[in-house]
Amino acid sequence: MNGGRDTRRPLVAPSLLAADFLRLGQEVEMLNESAADWLHLDIMDGLFVPNLSYGLPIVEQVKRVARKPLDVHLMIVHPERYVEAFSAAGADVLTVHYEVSPHLHRVVQQIKQAGMKAGVALNPHTPVALLEEVLPELDMVLVMSVNPGFGGQSFIEGSVEKVARLRDRIDRRGGQTLIEVDGGVNFETGRRLVAAGADVLVAGSFIFQSPDPARCIAGLKEIG
Ligand code: DX5
Ligand code: ZN
Repeated sequence: MNGGRDTRRPLVAPSLLAADFLRLGQEVEMLNESAADWLHLDIMDGLFVPNLSYGLPIVEQVKRVARKPLDVHLMIVHPERYVEAFSAAGADVLTVHYEVSPHLHRVVQQIKQAGMKAGVALNPHTPVALLEEVLPELDMVLVMSVNPGFGGQSFIEGSVEKVARLRDRIDRRGGQTLIEVDGGVNFETGRRLVAAGADVLVAGSFIFQSPDPARCIAGLKEIG
């Protein structure tokens, strides 16, 4: 089921989109004290996705208090214009969408030269085969398991097999590229995603709407 790999526990990246922004400092402190591995920050521009979220000032503020890497997911057109700005704001992993990047190889190099890990995100309809040429360059592929733009949406079932296909491509090359999955992740979908080969689970509403977010994060870490 997992391509013969040893079963591994996932990295967990809570999405701050679902946090209480009026208590953002305390939310980050809760994540600092939790089993979370990374903090996932969703940047939306109202163009690539039909929603707006927050931008550089929030990333900078979170960076001041976070003691874990910042995993920044750009859902914006022309991400190449903002790579250095997000590096300066404190991003450790920067992910751009395949669908807005005609010069994907170039922007991936730009992200690495700015000192960050480089990720590429795939919308639900975008096949993993389109990454064939660039895959060796990538630190991470983000498989969207909902259409990007909103938290709290239902998990798209085909994402599990998509992760398995990507796992197979990465393993056949002997690559180290991480697979992150974002959207509708909970204990049940998370378990199936990890079995299919996911390395990093992003979860927003499942964590922040639970009565005990830190415990929920610890539960996701136990998968595998
Ligand atoms: C959606 C964002 C996600 C979002 C996930 O476009 O990329 O990171 O916060 O939210 P949930 O876990 O609620 O589906
Ligand atoms: Zn995201």
